[in-house]
Amino acid sequence: MRRVVVLALGSFCCGSLWGQAGPYVRQEVDQAGSDRGKRVYTQFCINCHGALAKGTEQGPDLIRSPLVLRDRLGDQIGPALKKLANHKTDLTQAQVADLTHFLKDQIETTAKNRNPEHPPNVLTGNREAGRAYFNGAGKCNTCHSPSGDLAGVGRKYMPVDLQQRFLFPRRSKPIQVTVTPSGGQPVTGALERIDDFNVAVRDASGEYRTFTRTSALRVDINDPLAAHNQMLDVYTDQDMHNVVRYLESLK
Ligand code: HEC
Ligand code: HEC
Repeated sequence: MRRVVVLALGSFCCGSLWGQAGPYVRQEVDQAGSDRGKRVYTQFCINCHGALAKGTEQGPDLIRSPLVLRDRLGDQIGPALKKLANHKTDLTQAQVADLTHFLKDQIETTAKNRNPEHPPNVLTGNREAGRAYFNGAGKCNTCHSPSGDLAGVGRKYMPVDLQQRFLFPRRSKPIQVTVTPSGGQPVTGALERIDDFNVAVRDASGEYRTFTRTSALRVDINDPLAAHNQMLDVYTDQDMHNVVRYLESLK
């Protein structure tokens, strides 16, 4: 559901650029494309390739992938996505071009920050502005508290990791779902799987239950991380820096 707007915007641009640059010309990162690409990446790739595209157990490092390094505006990645198993095959050329700007951007950033003694400074924001955002426009305080779950978070993580954790939190609990058959009792539990035809729930007693999806079956999904993902479209860079600076002060 989310990000439909952004994806639609992405497709206005860049389609004709695919394959234009020759193989020996370095692809210049287009910052707007990279920003759009980040959203595509966050939606479709991050789970397996990781927040920094450096890989996870589910997928390889894309920063050091020769295929990605060779890519020019999607000419390698586009065809690869169509061939690779379990990859999305219906991205538009514009989305793929945006993805490659994002990945090139990551490659360049990684190269610039190679020295582990001098990690990038992510503490350039303003703490008070971050606090105000936390309790105001960001609505962070509707789910978090600086003296509760986030107490000491600035001690727990290095600043760079803190920024990652805040932008791309890990899911520690499964998505909850409530399924209500017409005229029946609602069943609430962990969402095990959902597609157009069925929804499977593991209820509080541990029982696995599958329902056929019909228009009469009500399905309410409650993903506590949905807010985080949606906010990626909303933060300005300044908001992010301010929030990180504020979180870092929670020692
Ligand atoms: C379900 C996990 C998963 C998702 C989601 C996923 N990938 Fe992958 N990706 C993999 C795995 C595993 C491989 C290695 C597979 C192989 O080599 O056959 C791979 C390989 C690749 C490669 C080839 C790298 C190389 O050096 O050969 C590229 C490029 C790639 N993925 C890009 C993407 C992009 C872009 C997205 C999002 C649109 C994405 N992947 C989403 C798991 C995933
Ligand atoms: C709708 C609820 C909700 C809102 C709003 C929300 N978060 Fe979160 N946040 C979560 C959940 C859920 C997690 C994952 C925690 C878990 O499952 O353990 C999380 C994780 C985090 C983490 C990582 C904590 C850790 O120890 O890894 C940080 C930092 C964080 N959020 C900061 C923020 C900030 C800053 C905002 C506002 C800009 C915000 N959150 C808004 C629900 C929310």
